[in-house]
Amino acid sequence: MSETVLGILASGRGSNMQSILNNISSGRLHAKIGIVISDHANAKVLEIAAVAGIPAVCIERKNFATKQEFEAAIAAEIVNHEVQLVVLAGFMRILSGYFIGLFPGRIMNIHPSLLPAFPGLNAHSQALTYGAKVSGCTIHFVDEGVDTGPIIMQQAVEVLPDDTPDSLAERIIKVEHALYSKAIGLYCDQRLSIEGRNVKIIE
Ligand code: GRF
Repeated sequence: MSETVLGILASGRGSNMQSILNNISSGRLHAKIGIVISDHANAKVLEIAAVAGIPAVCIERKNFATKQEFEAAIAAEIVNHEVQLVVLAGFMRILSGYFIGLFPGRIMNIHPSLLPAFPGLNAHSQALTYGAKVSGCTIHFVDEGVDTGPIIMQQAVEVLPDDTPDSLAERIIKVEHALYSKAIGLYCDQRLSIEGRNVKIIE
């Protein structure tokens, strides 16, 4: 089977993108990154792509009159690079129904909490403020809501009594790095089936 082509959308430091890349290089993930798209010119993820020799482009919202034109520019890159799965890896923008409708069931996101708890920004602080004893990370398909799409995989991480948002984030991100490639791998092997809100993993 040929490699599944991924398109990575990321706004920042790109540690998830780096771990996906590492897993591809080591043969653990049978995929190929076709394009990296960032909405921030100085995002570290663009440097990582350059070092790895992966096509990368910066598409900034400010250069477009409307959100739809901005998203259309992103979609054009995805289509031009024959991307099969769009992977959001710290992409700090909410995608509209227009964009999601272009790639139904083909957009994944990772979020640093056990959804539906603590969606949106500052998930680690939300978990600590709430007094949760367990948090973790969730990988889900993207729908029009904020972190509401069908859940693919989740893994719990214990919240420790002295945790700060940073110390909790440090433990969760390690789990994210392992879990995201697993979920992407399941997609690449055509082992994910979306049935309403439920994602079945085909054995
Ligand atoms: C991760 O914690 C991810 O769950 C969230 O944004 C962060 C991105 O980190 N959506 P990185 O850019 O992959 O290092």
